[in-house]
Amino acid sequence: NDSGKIEVLGSTYTTDKWTNATSAILSKTGRDLLHQPSHPLAILKEMIFAEFPTFAHYDSLSPVVNTYQNFDSLGFAKDHPGRAASDTYYINADTLLRTHTSAHQLELLAAGKQSNAEILAQAKNAQAAPANERFLVAADVYRRDEIDASHYPVFHQMEGVCTFSRAEIREHLRREAAASATAATTEALNLDLSAAQLLDTTQIGDTNPVQPEHTAEEVAFVAAHMKRTMNSMVVHILSKASAAAAAITDSTQVSSGAATQFPVRWIDAFFPFTSPSWEMEVLFRGDWLEICGCGVMKQAILDDAGMPDRIGWAFGFGLERLAMLLFGVPDIRLFWSTDPRFVGQFSPGQINAFRAFSRHPPCPKDVSFWLPADTEFHENDLMDLVRETAGDLVEGVKLIDLFTHPKTSKTSRCYRINYCSMDRNVKHEEINAIQDKVRDRIVSQLGVTLR
Ligand code: PHE
Repeated sequence: NDSGKIEVLGSTYTTDKWTNATSAILSKTGRDLLHQPSHPLAILKEMIFAEFPTFAHYDSLSPVVNTYQNFDSLGFAKDHPGRAASDTYYINADTLLRTHTSAHQLELLAAGKQSNAEILAQAKNAQAAPANERFLVAADVYRRDEIDASHYPVFHQMEGVCTFSRAEIREHLRREAAASATAATTEALNLDLSAAQLLDTTQIGDTNPVQPEHTAEEVAFVAAHMKRTMNSMVVHILSKASAAAAAITDSTQVSSGAATQFPVRWIDAFFPFTSPSWEMEVLFRGDWLEICGCGVMKQAILDDAGMPDRIGWAFGFGLERLAMLLFGVPDIRLFWSTDPRFVGQFSPGQINAFRAFSRHPPCPKDVSFWLPADTEFHENDLMDLVRETAGDLVEGVKLIDLFTHPKTSKTSRCYRINYCSMDRNVKHEEINAIQDKVRDRIVSQLGVTLR
């Protein structure tokens, strides 16, 4: 940026060599899809909020955060690849567009200790327990990524955080031990597995360790509570979709109602801010869907928040993928469409199947270029350049040929850019003009030679 300043949501920031947030991206920060009551993402958000009546609900936290919030507070190492400018939109060296809703974990937990009225006042759910002990955060998040029908550089996540005092956990475990003697198991907790069974059935071990600050029983309790909570949330949301399902895709695999309709599996995972950690997957219409990451919160985060006597779980998941399934939305760009034929199809509190409007013909254009032997090439630089030039007219960008010259060891890459409007007819001249601009920018911004 020439002027050395950029404005995001009314605040001005000084740019530096880290700055890579394009104007195409910055223009999304104010769209506020989660606050449009008839937008599928807002409908899904409200449905999930309703599943957690005792949690505080946050959905208005600014996407502009600092590197401490997004990374350091969560225990990301200084050299963690997630910090790379090739994956993250930086406003400057210390300021970025959050890459995940976990960026708010520490400040929301700590809001209790600091009695941070400004933050606590944003909690939307009055019935909630102390707003810093259990909360949900729904928000837009930003990641540099490839371009296709299921990736978009802005998407939405829902974070869930739930903490317990150690005394409370001890009390539950004591009651559970008493109850299991009479095979009444864990009714009080409404767990589908006892804590002991859970320890057996989940892979807690060397590669997915219990933290030294926790006992195996404490972790079994917290993990069981987390899994039960997530299970019932997913089952409720997916069964709401079943009602609408007849109209979505093929109705043959959809039977009605029962929880067993959506088997769940837990895959070992790794996050810097949880241990043990899992990825939750749900079988939905024949496919295992990766729904979300989750785990037992790193104790250092609770210690830093002034809650060393509490233990907690956290989950984070993307709303778009679930919304695409529930509403039958075939292309992630549609969520950003202002076409009344999209936004007019949905109403608050309802999941109904999207009826596609006429599909406009795709227009593929190839571009090939030579990279000098010693240059580093980050594909995401090309992705942002294309987005910046073509906006939402670009449906996909794919590498279709890669060649290294045997003598000069220069490499050549050929990308196919698929232009296709999701909502209007586009003239060939318009696409050609965009493609010319893309080609010019590839030369001027990436320093390569067109073939
Ligand atoms: N923040 C993680 C992500 O974006 C998801 C996550 C949240 C994992 C909370 C564990 C606990 O991938």
